[in-house]
Amino acid sequence: MKIKQLEFTEFISAEQIQDKIHSLASEINHDYKGKTPVFLPVLNGSFMFAADLLKDISIPCRVSFVKISSYEGMSSTGQLKTLIGLDESLFNQDIIIVEDIVDTGLTLQKIIAELNSLGTRSVEVVSLLRKKPAREKGVKVKFAGFDIENEFVLGYGLDYDGLGRNYRQLFQAVTD
Ligand code: IMP
Repeated sequence: MKIKQLEFTEFISAEQIQDKIHSLASEINHDYKGKTPVFLPVLNGSFMFAADLLKDISIPCRVSFVKISSYEGMSSTGQLKTLIGLDESLFNQDIIIVEDIVDTGLTLQKIIAELNSLGTRSVEVVSLLRKKPAREKGVKVKFAGFDIENEFVLGYGLDYDGLGRNYRQLFQAVTD
């Protein structure tokens, strides 16, 4: 499959993704028994993963989609990022951030710091994919789906220049 100038081949099938989601959901159902967590899927990439994962969550829970906005700060540090879309109080709540992929973990660090400042009771992460830099840096992802290397992936919510989010499977860029 070709998107723009890049060639992609199938990497993880729709069936493998669904199997992984069933096991991630049962871990969460087990670990959060007796609690009512708030799932925070981070748009845009996690919309498909969140929709499938939440169908398998059987404990009571809330869901609130958030987005990262970038804006130019006044200081020389450049871009600051902040969470937008939070429409309910997260004070004293058990939060589960839903991510499509964690690469360097920088995005996640920012989100977690902001959530901690809101007086949440706990903050954990479920991510469908985790790249090598995140593992090397010891970024805390409590529920990680597939551990991958540094390949660029697309499909199942993930995009390449805005394209390719609509596929039910994951593709990998052909590099040679
Ligand atoms: P991080 O801050 O380096 O962890 O970057 C995480 C974000 O980068 C993800 O939420 C994605 O939006 C994007 N990203 C990282 N790797 C890929 C990839 O292989 N395909 C598509 N998007 C990616």
